[in-house]
Amino acid sequence: MRILISVVLFCSLIALPQACGQTEHLQGQNLYLQHCSSCHFETGEGLRQLMPPLAGSDYLENYPDQVVRGIRRGMSGEMTVNGKVYNHEMPENKELSDFQIVNIVNYINQAWGNDYGTITVGDSRKWLEE
Ligand code: HEC
Repeated sequence: MRILISVVLFCSLIALPQACGQTEHLQGQNLYLQHCSSCHFETGEGLRQLMPPLAGSDYLENYPDQVVRGIRRGMSGEMTVNGKVYNHEMPENKELSDFQIVNIVNYINQAWGNDYGTITVGDSRKWLEE
């Protein structure tokens, strides 16, 4: 009996965080498809001079704070992504919660071969206050 209990405990300790991680990843992916892929595309490749790419983007890698604020408040003005200058408007997403923004960023940070780490809700709250 004791063995059974420890097996169950062990499994829930190991399995639960993984399952939670998957849910967040799926939410990030779904939100991306809903709110972002019309411009940046499912593949994250962007569109010529109009929409900057997210796949392999040095901007995404280097300025997570501006990305978080940009998702909430929109982006405009010149920006350079992988050496190319873009200057168009990205709409704001006021309806997305801090958690949803974190899940989207953690999705795009790891999608399409990107390996840009993860951010926390604490990070995003701090950046959104700036
Ligand atoms: C209507 C089109 C549109 C939508 C929808 C859109 N974006 Fe953008 N995005 C842009 C444009 C245009 C820029 C460049 C802005 C500029 O030139 O200042 C940009 C810039 C970015 C950048 C920084 C540059 C880069 O390529 O790394 C990131 C990151 C980004 N968008 C992520 C997102 C995410 C995440 C969403 C969904 C929540 C989203 N975008 C929705 C058009 C869009």
